[in-house]
Amino acid sequence: MKPIGIKSVSGNYNVYFSNDFEKILKDKDFKNSHLLIDRNIWNLYKNKIGNKFISTRIIIAKEANKSLEEVIKYIKFLLKNNIHKNQSITVIGGALIQDIGSFTAHILLRGINWIFVPTTILAMADSCIGSKSGINVGKYKNQVGSFHPPVAIYICPEFIKTLPESEIVNGIGEILKHGLIKGGKAFKEISKRVGNIRNLKNAQRIIYESLLIKKRIIEEDELEKNIRKILNYGHTFGHAIEGYTDNSISHGSAVIIGMDMANYISFKRGILTQQKYLQMNRILKKYFPDKFKLENIPLYMKFLKRDKKATDEGVSAILSRGIGKIEIIKIKFDKELEKTISEYIKNI
Ligand SMILES: NC(=O)c1ccc[n+]([C@@H]2O[C@H](COP(=O)([O-])OP(=O)(O)OC[C@H]3O[C@@H](n4cnc5c(N)ncnc54)[C@H](O)[C@@H]3O)[C@@H](O)[C@H]2O)c1
Ligand SMILES: [Zn+2]
Repeated sequence: MKPIGIKSVSGNYNVYFSNDFEKILKDKDFKNSHLLIDRNIWNLYKNKIGNKFISTRIIIAKEANKSLEEVIKYIKFLLKNNIHKNQSITVIGGALIQDIGSFTAHILLRGINWIFVPTTILAMADSCIGSKSGINVGKYKNQVGSFHPPVAIYICPEFIKTLPESEIVNGIGEILKHGLIKGGKAFKEISKRVGNIRNLKNAQRIIYESLLIKKRIIEEDELEKNIRKILNYGHTFGHAIEGYTDNSISHGSAVIIGMDMANYISFKRGILTQQKYLQMNRILKKYFPDKFKLENIPLYMKFLKRDKKATDEGVSAILSRGIGKIEIIKIKFDKELEKTISEYIKNI
């Protein structure tokens, strides 16, 4: 598969595709690189990785570790291992380890290169491009961050073989989001193949399509001044679901419900026809989690108001006029919104 080139204000970079992780490790020169790796990936793949790197840091992929404290510990570890400006960090893991690696690479020695081998579908099809990192501060998620893209990304769909089922849906949420944003042929291709994403050929195709959609948006507005905001489709309503359920609903599943909720609000505000709402609802609801319940609407509204992008009055919501027709529309946190959300919850 042809590499995808990404234009960035920090320097352009490529996404390479390979079916063979061992070949990448063999072909590329990692003598000059420090490894940062997810503990589960290390346990599963350490025989393939061996000791090609200057140093190896293994981190458990949990939110508590995506902290400034962990970043400082890692920086001290790298300094002890004599890291230099002409060396790099190679990150192997999902988007959580990516966030730690990318942020560390941004601030250490005022910026060093990093290379990324994503191992979750979410990281392969979405987060690996776009330059963002987010670090938690206490219980506040992703409050500190940077824009610091890797110098190269190597996508090996074979990692999907060991990915737990819950992580598959997590990735599907962001992929469907890209499809619904773009519409047209890309959406058809994604919706046709997404049900069978464990098939690695399908996975590669979908990841490719998904990245092409995100590429066009981030190249136009990498620093999220305007158009990139549409990538938050489903996120404002989804984040509030994550908060309300104390994260028992994963991010991807919450985004799927969040997009459906945004579509329902669009329908109720007269910008989306019922037929188009139902067309998207049929696709999205296949991935709704069984355990989803939202009984306390005022409490849900509180979580909604806490959204990073919200002000006291309201939020720039990402609404839809149909597949491929996304719009940023300011909505108020008023009784009307609360009523629409309660009605939505009763109907699903
Ligand atoms: N920087 C960004 O642009 C961006 C975008 C989206 C999400 N995020 C952040 O990423 C995090 C979520 O990342 P994620 O969804 O990629 O998952 P993750 O990195 O949290 O990993 C999820 C679980 O899957 C395991 N795992 C990963 N790859 C595996 C594999 N191939 N085989 C077996 N197990 C594997 C991990 O050990 C972990 O237990 C959140 O902290 C979120 O805030 C960042
Ligand atoms: Zn997301």
